[in-house]
Amino acid sequence: MEAILGLMQEAFAHHQTARPDLFVAALDLAAARQRIEAAFKRADAFNFLAEANRAVVGQARGALSVVPAGLFNRERKLAWVEEIVVARQARMGNVGRKLMERVAGWARDRGAQAVALEVYALNASARAFYQALGFEPVRLRLEYAL
Ligand SMILES: CC(C)(COP(=O)(O)OP(=O)(O)OC[C@H]1O[C@@H](n2cnc3c(N)ncnc32)[C@H](O)[C@@H]1OP(=O)(O)O)[C@@H](O)C(=O)NCCC(=O)NCCS
Repeated sequence: MEAILGLMQEAFAHHQTARPDLFVAALDLAAARQRIEAAFKRADAFNFLAEANRAVVGQARGALSVVPAGLFNRERKLAWVEEIVVARQARMGNVGRKLMERVAGWARDRGAQAVALEVYALNASARAFYQALGFEPVRLRLEYAL
């Protein structure tokens, strides 16, 4: 758990430094711990860890999500990635790719049509990673600052 929280802190700091106007000043570790523990208990959730030299160096966490049919859109079953993070010292070594392949296999076995996630526009490195893996934008949220 401590290793997972450490990775979450890394991902949070990456965002917070870039856009302090969007993100709270410090991560609430007790709330983060609760959220992860709740995710562990869900039958439709996944939590994959990558290890190197007996240390956790990566995590992909999320759950199945059924998007209901609407006026326009069909019902779809997605494997929603809530978080993927690789420890700084292990990046660019295919750890993230392997974690995402694991997610895709898990999702396929459960009849999901796609692996889906949201990424902040500020996160150029993660966007490059997703692009390298073949992810494509389906929906874009735009904001006009007031
Ligand atoms: C995004 C992240 C998970 C990528 O993990 P990683 O283990 O370094 O990625 P991999 O080594 O598996 O790379 C897979 C592919 O993505 C590309 N890629 C990864 N990071 C990249 C970067 N910063 N810039 C350009 N391309 C990148 C690699 O070149 C590789 O492409 P290739 O196979 O065509 O050569 C990692 O950088 C990270 O943890 N970032 C901080 C947390 C974060 O932002 N998470 C996403 C939140 S939405």
